[in-house]
Order: sequence, then C-alpha cells, then structure tokens
Amino acid sequence: MDSIRVEGGHPLKGEIAISGAKNACLTLMPAALLSDEPLTLTNAPRLSDIRTMTELLGSLGCEVASLQGGKVLAIGAEKISNHTAHYDIVRKMRASILVLGPMLARDGHAVVSLPGGCAIGARPVDLHLKGLEALGAEMDLRDGYVHARAEGGLKGGLVDFPLVSVGATENVLMAATLAKGQTVIRNAAREPEIVDLADCLRAMGAKISGDGTSEITVDGVDRLHGATHPVIIDRIELGTYMLAPAIAGGEVDLIGGRRDLVEAFSAKLEDAGVEVSETPRGLKVSRKNGRIKPVSVTTEPHPGFPTDLQAQMMALLTLADGTSVLEETIFENRFMHAPELTRMGASIDVHGGTATVTGVERLKGAQVMATDLRASVSLILAGLAAEGETTVGRVYHLDRGYERVEEKLGACGAKIERIREGADD
Ligand code: UD1
Repeated sequence: MDSIRVEGGHPLKGEIAISGAKNACLTLMPAALLSDEPLTLTNAPRLSDIRTMTELLGSLGCEVASLQGGKVLAIGAEKISNHTAHYDIVRKMRASILVLGPMLARDGHAVVSLPGGCAIGARPVDLHLKGLEALGAEMDLRDGYVHARAEGGLKGGLVDFPLVSVGATENVLMAATLAKGQTVIRNAAREPEIVDLADCLRAMGAKISGDGTSEITVDGVDRLHGATHPVIIDRIELGTYMLAPAIAGGEVDLIGGRRDLVEAFSAKLEDAGVEVSETPRGLKVSRKNGRIKPVSVTTEPHPGFPTDLQAQMMALLTLADGTSVLEETIFENRFMHAPELTRMGASIDVHGGTATVTGVERLKGAQVMATDLRASVSLILAGLAAEGETTVGRVYHLDRGYERVEEKLGACGAKIERIREGADD
C-alpha cells in the first residue's frame, strides 16, 4: 500500500489549482439516473471515490464515459437495467446511498445496500429513508439492504428533518424533482454542494427554489432532460491547501479559490494570524513570521466551520502559541488523527467531542498512519512543518479525496513524494 514521505521545514511558494468538488460530484453523478438523456459533468475531480461511483452507476446499467483524462464525465442512463446497488460497491463508499432517491423517483423501486465508508462514527441513513417515506415510499430493511418501493410514483410532501444532513437533503431533493406535486424540505442542509446540485437539476428542467437556505421547495415535473453542468470547486480541498502555507510558512495562490465558500474557516485562519486575500484568480494565503495564535473552533453545518476541515485545522493549532479548543459536533469519533499528531510531538487531550490542543514550538517527523480521508491529509500538513521526515502510511484514504496531492504541494516547493508499494497490508 502506498505511503507519502514529507521532509518538513520548507516554506511554500507557488500556486495550486483547486479541483472540482468530490462531494458535489458524488451527488451530481447519481442525478443522471433521473433522466433518459445524458448528463455531462465538466470540472470533475480525478479521485478513487469518483471511480467507485462510476462503477456503481455502471452496475445499474448506466454508460459512463470518462473524457479528457477524467475531467469530463458523460453519463447516460437511457434505461436503468438493474435497480440493486450491491454491498460490494456500496461498502467502499457511503455516498452510494445517493442512488436510492433517483432510482425510486424514476422507476418506483430500488434496492440499496446499507453503506460503509469512513470510520468516523455510526453514520446512519435513517434520515434518508424517513425523508423518502414522506414522499410516499415504503421501506423494508432486509439482509443489510434497503428495499424501497413507491407504487404509482412518489408524491410531493413535507420533509421536516430533525437534524441537518447533507446526504439526506440531496437524496430527497433529487427524488422530489420527479414526484407528483410540491415538496417542501425543512431544516435542509445549506452546503454549497446542495446549491450546485439544485443548479444542475434546474439545468435538467427541475423546478426548485430556496436552495442555499434551510427551506427548499420543489415542484415536481413529469420528466427531466439532459444537461451539461460544471462541478463547483472543492472548498475542502481549498481549505486544506490554504493551511499548507499557514503551517509551513510562505505564500500560495489558490487558483479558482472562493472566499464565500470558506468564510467561517477563513475567519478562523485570520484569527490565527494567517493572511488571506482575494485575487483576480482566486485566493492568496501567506504567513510570514511569528507563531500561530491559538483559536477555538466548533464544527457546524454550513455556513459554520466544516467538520471536513477540523483535522487539518488541528494540525495547524498544534504549533500555536497557547491553547486551542476544537469541538466536533457533527461526527463522533472524528479525532483519530490526534494520537498520530501526538506521535509527532503535539500535545492534545481528547475528551468526548472536545480536543484541547496545547501548542508546541515544533513537531518532529515520525511514521504515522492515516485512518480516514481528512485525517490523512492533516498528517501531511503536519509533516510540512515538522523537523525531519514524516511518512504517512495507508494513503488509500487520501486518494479517495485529494487529486495528485504530492504534485500540487511539490509544485510549491514542498519536499514530498509517494512511495509506491505493491503489497497490501
Ligand atoms: C457529507 C459529506 C461529508 C461531510 C458531511 C458533513 C459527502 C459525500 N460527504 O456527508 O464529507 O463530512 O456531509 O458536512 O457529501 N445522520 C443521521 N442520519 C442520517 C444521515 C446523517 O443521523 O440518515 C447524522 C450523521 O451521523 C452525522 C450528521 O447527521 O452525525 C451529519 O451527516 P450528513 O450531513 O448526512 O453527512 P453525509 O451526507 O454523510
């Protein structure tokens, strides 16, 4: 299994182009199931999670053409020939559950294995199922599979989520586009990826308003048509690379970066003493002299501080001049990077959903192990600042969500390389 070796202590200078958003692409691809005409996605990221979704859609009878080296995906779902999403594929990636709503809306039935995915807590799918039930679907859980039916098609209804879920909002939003009548989604997620999905669905002929707020209204239509849609930039990749010069020192231009997508995060970065400025091509982030200032962070649904940047932010705060407190409110068990950062000399105390980080003057390179996607990249960031060499093992998690990380950082002067190993551990 591949690992990544980083030699720390080199300030960064250069530019990094931000890719299309993994999480947006993973919901835009299943949206193709809603129409018998092709959906073309441009600015797609080249990631293993996208290949997993390609494989899943292929298993349902879609034709997925990967063009321009994977940057363009043309997805044809003229007919859904198989309505079962099997465990073998679904277990690799939790976002597989997003095929449920579209298949149910188009053909009135779907069977989807309960998902696996990152090991960051229980992560149930009850809200997806309850939301679709509110549109008239009947759900039956058997042998680890969700069997969903909607005889005569889905009907618009009121979906009032007890807690904010990105995936459940996406599943219901997609399903509601083809339901009869009007659907109102209350306590909807407001993430930019939801707005991107709504933009794509509107381009396909859907009638949606209120996306980006906590109440979305969908007026069902009889059919959707084909469209071409550019995937929004990846705000989590953006935030991650904003942290690279913040932790290693230097100045990096993030091409395509948009501050409005990372406002809460940028504000915390500035509180920590990092400079963030808007440029005609994106964002510029620099850190000159002096220690990072401690800041406290609580993860929240958008527009709050994203849980997907918590691990990376923690890597920065290990070097702050004082004590920072990070509270994780979205997922349980999402501090698995803390013991690994501790192996690099960080001082972190975890109690339940709270991590208290007492800054140290320097980190020391070590052999560490990546345990989930964002944890892996936080260890790479820490490695950029650490004295000596850091080797991050098991980087298959990283490849799920970061395109060519070693090339992007290497182009800014980071000493980073991938060590390819054939043997699986
Ligand atoms: C998406 C993102 C993920 C991000 C997360 C929160 C994708 C592919 N993944 O995940 O990177 O970390 O949003 O921003 O877009 N919950 C339930 N029942 C459900 C669904 C969720 O209890 O049916 C809980 C979860 O366990 C979690 C919280 O709701 O505690 C939020 O999860 P959710 O927003 O659904 O995350 P995902 O859509 O899985």
